[in-house]
Amino acid sequence: MQKLLIKGKKVLSGTISISGSKNATLPILAASILNDKKTTLKNIPLVKDVFTMIELLSFIGLKTKLHKGKNILEISKKNKKIITVAPYRIVKTMRAGVLVLGPLIAKYKKAKVSLPGGCAIGTRPVDLHLFALKKLGAKILIKEGYIYASAKDGLVGCKIKFPSISVGATENAIIAASQAKGKTILYNCALEPEIENLIVFLKKMGCKISIKKGRKIIINGTFKTSQVSQKIMFDRIELGTYLIAAALMGKKISFSNVIPKIINTEIKVLKSMGVKIKSQNKKIIVYKSLDIKSAKIKTKPYPGFPTDLQAQIMVLMSKAKGYSSIEENIFENRFMHVPELKRMGAKISTKNNIAQILGPTKLSGAEVMATDLRASVCLVLAGLIADNRTVINRIYHLDRGYENLEKKLKTCGAKITRI
Ligand code: UD1
Repeated sequence: MQKLLIKGKKVLSGTISISGSKNATLPILAASILNDKKTTLKNIPLVKDVFTMIELLSFIGLKTKLHKGKNILEISKKNKKIITVAPYRIVKTMRAGVLVLGPLIAKYKKAKVSLPGGCAIGTRPVDLHLFALKKLGAKILIKEGYIYASAKDGLVGCKIKFPSISVGATENAIIAASQAKGKTILYNCALEPEIENLIVFLKKMGCKISIKKGRKIIINGTFKTSQVSQKIMFDRIELGTYLIAAALMGKKISFSNVIPKIINTEIKVLKSMGVKIKSQNKKIIVYKSLDIKSAKIKTKPYPGFPTDLQAQIMVLMSKAKGYSSIEENIFENRFMHVPELKRMGAKISTKNNIAQILGPTKLSGAEVMATDLRASVCLVLAGLIADNRTVINRIYHLDRGYENLEKKLKTCGAKITRI
C-alpha cells in the first residue's frame, strides 16, 4: 500500500494552478447521460472519483474519450445499447454514483442503482434523493442493496420542498426534472457553486432553468438536447486547502485559475485569523503570515463555511494563539482526523459536534492514518509544519480528490514523496 513521506518545516513559495472541481465534474458527468449529442468537458480533474464516474458512464453504454494531457473529456452515444444499471462493483467507493439515478429514470424510464456503501464521515443516506424522484412520479423499490426505480409514462413536473438541504439530492432532482413533463419548482435547495455549474451545463444543453431568491429553482422540463462544450469550474476546496498550506508555511504563493469571490467566506475567515491574503481578478496571493489568531467557525451549506475545509482549517487553528472552535453541522462523524492530529501533538478536545483547539502547539512528525479524503489532506498539512518526518498511510483517499498533490507542493519547495 502506498504511503506519503513528508519532511516538515520547509518554506513554500511559487505558484499553484488550481484544478477543475471534482464535485462539479461528477454531477455534470451524470447529466451528460441526457445528451443525445456530443458533450465536451474541459478542465476535467484527473482524480480517482472522476475516473470511477467515467467507468460508470462507459458501463452504461456511453462512449467516453479522455484526453489526459489536455484535461478534456468527450462523451457521445454512437451505436451503443444503454444499460440502465449502476453496479455495486463500480459505485461502492464513490457515493456520487447515485447521481446517475435521476438522469437514467428521466431519460430511460427505469434504473437499477446500487445503494452507496457506508462512509467514514457519517451514515449518508439517500432518502432525500428518493423523496424528490418519487414526487416526480418515480416508483422506487429497495431490494438486495439496489434502488429499483421506474416511471413507465415518464416523470411529471411538480413542487418539491426539501425537508433539509442536500447537495446531491438537489442535483439529482434538477437533472431528473429537466426531462420531466411541465414545470418543477424546487424549494430549500442547496446552492453550492458546483450546482450553478451544473445548471449552466444543462442550460447549454437546452434546458430552461433558473435560480430564484430564497433557495428556489424553477425548471421547465423536457428539451431537445444539443451539442455542448463546457469548462468545469475551479476546485474551491482544493484552493482552500492550498491557501491554508500557504498560511502555514508560505513565503509567497500565488494561485491561478480561480475566481476569488466564490470563496469569500473562506477568505474572510483566513483574514480574520491574520493570514495575509490579497485577491485580484482571477488570482489570489498569500504572503508570509506570522501572527495567526484564533477563530470560531460553524460549517454550513454554501455560502457558509464548507464542511470539506473543516479538517484543514483545524491544522491552522493549532498554530493560532488561544482557543479556536469548530462546530460541524453537516456530517455527524467528521472529526476522525482529531486523534491523528493529537498523536502529532495538537491539543484538541471534542464534544458532540464541537471541537476545541488550543494553540499554538508545536506538531511533531509521526506515522498517521488517513480516514477520508479531507482528513487525509489535513494530515498532509500537519506534516508540512511538523518537526521531522511524517508518514501518512492509506493515501488512496487523497487520490480520490486531489490532482497532482505531491507535484504541486513539491514545485513550491515541499519535501514530500510517495513510496
Ligand atoms: C456533497 C459533496 C461533499 C460535501 C457535501 C456537503 C459531492 C460529490 N460531494 O456531498 O464533498 O461534503 O456535499 O457539502 O459534491 N442527507 C440525508 N439524506 C439524503 C442526502 C443527504 O440525510 O438523501 C444528509 C447527509 O447525511 C448530510 C447532509 O444531508 O448530513 C448533507 O449531505 P449532502 O449535501 O447530500 O452531501 P453530498 O451530496 O453527499
